Amino acid sequence: MATKPKKVNLTSSNLSEEKLQELRRILPEVFSESKIDWDRLKTVLGDQIDPRIEKFGLSWAGKSSAIQSVLVPSVATLRPDEKESVDFDTTENLFIEGDNLEVLKLLQKAYFEKIKAIYIDPPYNTGSDFVYKDDFKSPVKGYLEQTGQITDEGQRLQTNKETNGRYHSDWLSMMYPRLKLAWNLLRDDGMIFVSIDDHEVHHLRLVMDEVFGEENYINAFLWVNNLKGRQISGSGAAKTYEHVLAYAKKIENVGIFEMAVEKLKALMPASYKGFNYEAESDEGGDFVVKNELYNTNSAFNEETRPNLVFNIHYNFKTKEVKFSSINESANFPGFVKIPPKQNNDGRHKFHAWRWSKDKISNELSDLKFVENGEGAKIYTKIRAYLSTALKDIITDITTSNGASDLKELYDGAKYFDYPKPVDLIKIFISQMEDDGIALDFFAGSGTTAHAVMALNAEDKGTRKFVLVQLPEALDKDSEAFKAGFKTIADLAIDRIRRANKKLAGNGFKVFKLGESNYPENNFDFDPDKSDEENKKAFDVYLAKAKQASLFDAENGLDVVYENILKEGFSLNAKVVEQKVAKNKMYVVTDGERSLLVCLDKRVEPETIKELTGREYKDRMFICIDKALDDTGKANLGLNLELKTI
Ligand SMILES: C[S@@+](CC[C@H](N)C(=O)[O-])C[C@H]1O[C@@H](n2cnc3c(N)ncnc32)[C@H](O)[C@@H]1O
Repeated sequence: MATKPKKVNLTSSNLSEEKLQELRRILPEVFSESKIDWDRLKTVLGDQIDPRIEKFGLSWAGKSSAIQSVLVPSVATLRPDEKESVDFDTTENLFIEGDNLEVLKLLQKAYFEKIKAIYIDPPYNTGSDFVYKDDFKSPVKGYLEQTGQITDEGQRLQTNKETNGRYHSDWLSMMYPRLKLAWNLLRDDGMIFVSIDDHEVHHLRLVMDEVFGEENYINAFLWVNNLKGRQISGSGAAKTYEHVLAYAKKIENVGIFEMAVEKLKALMPASYKGFNYEAESDEGGDFVVKNELYNTNSAFNEETRPNLVFNIHYNFKTKEVKFSSINESANFPGFVKIPPKQNNDGRHKFHAWRWSKDKISNELSDLKFVENGEGAKIYTKIRAYLSTALKDIITDITTSNGASDLKELYDGAKYFDYPKPVDLIKIFISQMEDDGIALDFFAGSGTTAHAVMALNAEDKGTRKFVLVQLPEALDKDSEAFKAGFKTIADLAIDRIRRANKKLAGNGFKVFKLGESNYPENNFDFDPDKSDEENKKAFDVYLAKAKQASLFDAENGLDVVYENILKEGFSLNAKVVEQKVAKNKMYVVTDGERSLLVCLDKRVEPETIKELTGREYKDRMFICIDKALDDTGKANLGLNLELKTI
């Protein structure tokens, strides 16, 4: 009998299920009939459970729904917009138009622990700005409605007024799930920076303590942005500053240079003997190279395997690494030869060996030079750092710098109120050295993308950005609207395009949040009907929807990208259209993973034959369920990971 192929994933990752699995792995004894038995949990954890009713913490109306909303998977999708993009096929930068809660959920798999720095500038909740209202029941519909994409009438978002009885609660409920999802995306040497002013700074600090852990608090920077002072409601004093709160994912991975050196010394085994080298420049010092990068297998050495071990040469200025055969005495101008380590037997030396060449290049390519103040100099890899030049009061950048950065791209026209200055965001983004991904999910006019490109232009870095912005309708009386921009997202895309041109950036891909291509995801349950009635209506709907030709050539790529997202491939995966035997396929390659998608109505016998070949062994193949008969499914299922739509 043919085994039934798996269905494609219809939603983004199910975080609640993943958490339960984790708990089941650590504490299997607390589960009873696949549910958590609270009493057993209490017994197992004993004193760790705080029985007191009064506890320290921040609470607000709607907090538990906000926490739960994190766990509801997204059924939405992201549709590529090649026309709006620049260098779609080669760039690794992303601009995503959409509500950031849904988008962050869709990015959970592909960007899990991949983001090095997050900068956000959320609405400050001043009483006159817009705070997005999450519709937990039907988020995508709520999104399309709030952004006027259903009614066609560009509707402006609701202002969160101070007179609203849940003024702070609504803001916190909006922020909490987004911060939580962002936390998942940060690498363990990543940092987050959040701009905020007096209206919510005290609450934000407590929420951040809860989401990131108070031990991971780095600093509250003061940005003195307006020396003349600005009146804000309810405040007697004219405000000259706002805040940027900084937290680490794991504080132990972040330090300032000196701290890092101390840490490094503490970590170094007592027996550690670095070596001094005489560089052409005056940068002499100890050189730390991880032992495992050397060939520690004494059976393979320069005598027994001369072709497998290599000399390492390193250029401190360009950070380039070169290798040379141990049989020749190669010297490259500007490069220092790193001496091999002595083996324990004192005879053979450890060299770089063939299989660690890539690792060595990686390890050496982002070495930092540090000085411990006592004359000792160490080259090491510090995973994340805050520059000692970074003061916690930032005084030389003003609000008007932000306005001029944007105006400069538009011949002086003013299209956005209070964009952040490029230089301000550069300070925070530059803490992530010269590569890594920066994320901003309250992108506004796109300043963070501009800052990333400006930094790369300065130091030839390869930082990338991911920006998310709501298509918030622009005021019809605004200059931006009159210039032809309908939404803030439109303006941001145009601004990034201009900055990209000016700074010779690497382009960016545009995606837009939209309804799923899968009919299952687009059925609306009617809460006034019984479950039974809803189920019937769903079956009828599904049968009809499946009959209609859903996946026509026009939106083929959209379906491919929905699979890319939901199977956890990167949005930067390469997608190539090609023919395999008699069918059209989309071949998706993401590093070592690959995926084949065929949306033809029928997968032809010749194609099935081809796909059962060795070349396709164990690759994931997705096609429409009806495109294969049972025999076809059985044959393919033996060779490939078959999933059907
Ligand atoms: C203070 S502005 C950011 C300005 C930005 N830093 C700049 O320099 O241009 C905040 C932005 O977040 C956007 N926003 C608010 N709620 C959002 C949501 N749910 N999803 C995505 N963007 C949102 C707003 O449209 C607004 O443009």
